[in-house]
Amino acid sequence: MSAEQRSRLVVVSNRVAATTKGVRAGGLAVALLDALKESGGLWFGWSGKVSDSTRVSTRQIERGRLSAVTADLSNEDYEEYYNGFANRTLWPLFHYRTDLTRFDRDDYQGYIRVNQRFAHALKPLLRADDLLWVHDYHLIGFGEELRRMGAQQTMGFFLHIPFPSPEVLTALPVHDVLVRALFAYDVLGFQSESDRRSFLDFVATEAGGRIDPEGRAHAYGRRVDTAVFPIGIDSSEFARYAVSGEAKTHAGRMARVLRDRLGVIGVDRLDYTKGLPERFRAFARFLEAYPENRGRVSFVQLAPPSRADVPEYVGIRRELEGLAGSINAEFSEFDWTPLRYINRSFSRRALAGIFRLARVGLVTPLRDGMNLIAKEFVAAQASRDPGVLVLSRFAGAARQGADGALIVNPYDIQGVADAVHSALGMSLSERKERWQSLIASVREHDVTAWRESFVRRLQAAQRADRRH
Ligand code: G6P
Repeated sequence: MSAEQRSRLVVVSNRVAATTKGVRAGGLAVALLDALKESGGLWFGWSGKVSDSTRVSTRQIERGRLSAVTADLSNEDYEEYYNGFANRTLWPLFHYRTDLTRFDRDDYQGYIRVNQRFAHALKPLLRADDLLWVHDYHLIGFGEELRRMGAQQTMGFFLHIPFPSPEVLTALPVHDVLVRALFAYDVLGFQSESDRRSFLDFVATEAGGRIDPEGRAHAYGRRVDTAVFPIGIDSSEFARYAVSGEAKTHAGRMARVLRDRLGVIGVDRLDYTKGLPERFRAFARFLEAYPENRGRVSFVQLAPPSRADVPEYVGIRRELEGLAGSINAEFSEFDWTPLRYINRSFSRRALAGIFRLARVGLVTPLRDGMNLIAKEFVAAQASRDPGVLVLSRFAGAARQGADGALIVNPYDIQGVADAVHSALGMSLSERKERWQSLIASVREHDVTAWRESFVRRLQAAQRADRRH
């Protein structure tokens, strides 16, 4: 038994994946399931259901090593906490979309209420030496609520999305209470150094706190350790998916559609942070600027709908339908459709097969905590004939050993069009060289390294705590 398994690991996140089935590629739930498969423990969060039941249900998953404990949300909780404060306030704000950020006091109260209710539900299940690891913007206040109920366990929080600069964060009327709540944790983890720096900037400039040489933040009469833990994937498992029967079936279907044409692929939740309108325009610009590619290159964009009850998501969906229609109307031939835009989700195995067939992976978010699709695209490639990753500089993945990718600014439509053109014309030897450098980093910073480094930091905090 490894040292990290002495205490039980209790993970708390809004989404809980009870099985790998039906779980979306690239997302938080997949990463957590991959991480927890090895360590075992308890995983607590929302059941994904909306009902008036206050029951907490438990099921054993991963051959009994992992207990998934979930609670439903009431209709009001779902509206105020999930659709409201989490996804109409924190999500846009933390992705620098102050134009889409809406603040409503009732939603905020709903957010606090659900954090309290979840803390209440978990508290009786905790053991004295558990290590708690809380995830993402839905549950910033969870640790503080548990502390109010007397919980003494060591607790860490990991933010999967960007942490905005103080100028942006202060647009939120409750910014101070929210940051203060983060000080209930012992360890705070961020995806990249720039997110961590934004947090520390806030502490120094807005909270009147100080940062010690070890990177700990002191404010509000409390102290919290901070560090960067870039999230990863289980790259060998994903590489195996790419050669599975299901992968081959899907790659075969795509190959029949493409015939001997070259494929450009994009896979994203249908979200305004993903830069999809800009990406569609960039592909149209590519066809205009390099007309020899008409009839020769097709772009497949898979975009499973997400948070469909939130108005901003209805808006982006409409916008993309309009754009896709006009691009196809302008460029299509009887026997060639330039853009295939598909609003449904695919299994991870199917995606792996499609990634492996594609010549170019377009991952161009306007802002993204990490973006695990970028890593999955790399992991799925065949070493003897790898595709090229075109990656936004605003994805966390670009700050982490991504020299092998073509790094673009997603707002620069011509720049992205040019990058697609260079990627398609790239020699096999350059593609191999770039891929070797990317895959080395994807393997090194995999999901196990992510979990182990975070848990080690939590254990250090637990030991330090016992000494005092
Ligand atoms: C992002 C967030 C996760 C979230 C996921 C899917 O990756 O960081 O916390 O679970 O999107 O969004 P959803 O609203 O469907 O959970």
